[in-house]
Amino acid sequence: MPPEMKHKPQYSVPDGDLNSEISAGYLKSPSDEISEFPETWWLRRGVSRIRVYDINLLRLFTGPLDTPLTSQRSSSFHILSLSPATMTTPARHTALKVLQSGKIGPVSSRIPDLRPDEVLVHVRYVALNPFDAKSVDLSPSVGATVGCDFSGDVVATGSPTMLKPRIGDRVSGCVFGNNPDRLDNGAFAEYVAIPAELLFVIPKELSYEAAATLGVGLATVGMALYLSLGLPLPGSSSPTNPSYVLVYGGSTATGTLAIQMLRRSGLTPIATCSPHNFALVKSLGATAAFDYKSPTCGAQIREFTNGTLAYALDCITDTHSMAICYEGIGPTGGKYLSLDPFPIRGHTRRSVKPNWVLSLTMYNQPINWKRPFKRDARPKDREFAARWFQIAQEFLDSGVIQSHPYQVREAGWENMQCGLDSLLKGEVSGVKLVYPIS
Ligand SMILES: NC(=O)c1ccc[n+]([C@@H]2O[C@H](COP(=O)([O-])OP(=O)(O)OC[C@H]3O[C@@H](n4cnc5c(N)ncnc54)[C@H](OP(=O)(O)O)[C@@H]3O)[C@@H](O)[C@H]2O)c1
Repeated sequence: MPPEMKHKPQYSVPDGDLNSEISAGYLKSPSDEISEFPETWWLRRGVSRIRVYDINLLRLFTGPLDTPLTSQRSSSFHILSLSPATMTTPARHTALKVLQSGKIGPVSSRIPDLRPDEVLVHVRYVALNPFDAKSVDLSPSVGATVGCDFSGDVVATGSPTMLKPRIGDRVSGCVFGNNPDRLDNGAFAEYVAIPAELLFVIPKELSYEAAATLGVGLATVGMALYLSLGLPLPGSSSPTNPSYVLVYGGSTATGTLAIQMLRRSGLTPIATCSPHNFALVKSLGATAAFDYKSPTCGAQIREFTNGTLAYALDCITDTHSMAICYEGIGPTGGKYLSLDPFPIRGHTRRSVKPNWVLSLTMYNQPINWKRPFKRDARPKDREFAARWFQIAQEFLDSGVIQSHPYQVREAGWENMQCGLDSLLKGEVSGVKLVYPIS
């Protein structure tokens, strides 16, 4: 018997959850096999090293998790000690920052400070949004880290009592990049801080690359369709008649997710896009697709919907897109929602209520960008977003939501800058650009 066994076994258990699976110094599992607890199981519970005494083999095992736990399949172990995981994070990292208006570049800077409700994510992949490039031109915050969409691994939690996500979890989400009030945090960096309730835990079947494309898209769809337009949430009672919703720009990264979610809400999405994307939007659930370049596009939409269209989500937002949405909405009017500030001259019908959404309000932080982007903090938006992320997580877990098509490009801060330039010039069509970070 090892000397340690003469004493009461010492546990250094990092949280109560772990305690519940340890009984009187034995590891319990339904099959009594230690292989039920792979390394990741322990890591998620904050344990990195373990010392156990194998009762059957009368041997002491000590070391990193995989040493005793995967080499033996004995039924009973005395746990002698567990050491909390210490994922070491460097004090500094490289982040893509706003150097001056319209100019960004890699800079060595401090790792973001964690707030109690946040986790720190070691970023593996990021995805580019037109938003990332535009915001640096329209409202640059010099010194701020840019970028919203990311995927990676949780390496630290702001509060030791946080139960989900856990250290080691694969996660994705989006942050408020180019934030003048929090210069140290943005997605285009090696580490990013994010509120735990505004994160997706990546299902096993989904790659980091695909998951990196989801944050802004899913968040925007939630804020636009359900908070702003007030449509029925997926899973709530479905309308009996076809209830049409137009997604103008159905082949955009936001549009493809909006179409899928509208279907889950029991609604009937229709879309505009280029003819080469008709098959894509229909495969995702659009009942009909219309070419926005056709001079009769608005009239075709009104005819197809029999004058019953009452909701339009405009993912493009210019005078042309607004005119088609307004023409498509039926004679009794409805709601028009855009993703960018809409041209006021496009508001040509009193019976249509126009609005535009900025998904960044979901963080309940003031948006101190220039007008018209400036916003006060909105606690209700954060409340809704937390609920929406839970709903969207269920759809991701069940594998029914397809990510937007994406291309993984060669790693490198300069390559990302070229990608952002291409987005601004409108050279990217139908795909999201994804870049490895670490
Ligand atoms: N307010 C917010 O919170 C928020 C959030 C996310 C995005 N946005 C904004 O929403 C817009 C869409 O972003 P995204 O990332 O979803 O788009 P995206 O994936 O970059 O959209 C690319 C697609 O847009 C279509 N397109 C481009 N120019 C067009 C035009 N003049 N008319 C009609 N369609 C056109 C093209 O579709 P086809 O190839 O089929 O022609 C193209 O494939 C951007 O302006 C972005 O800044 C705002």
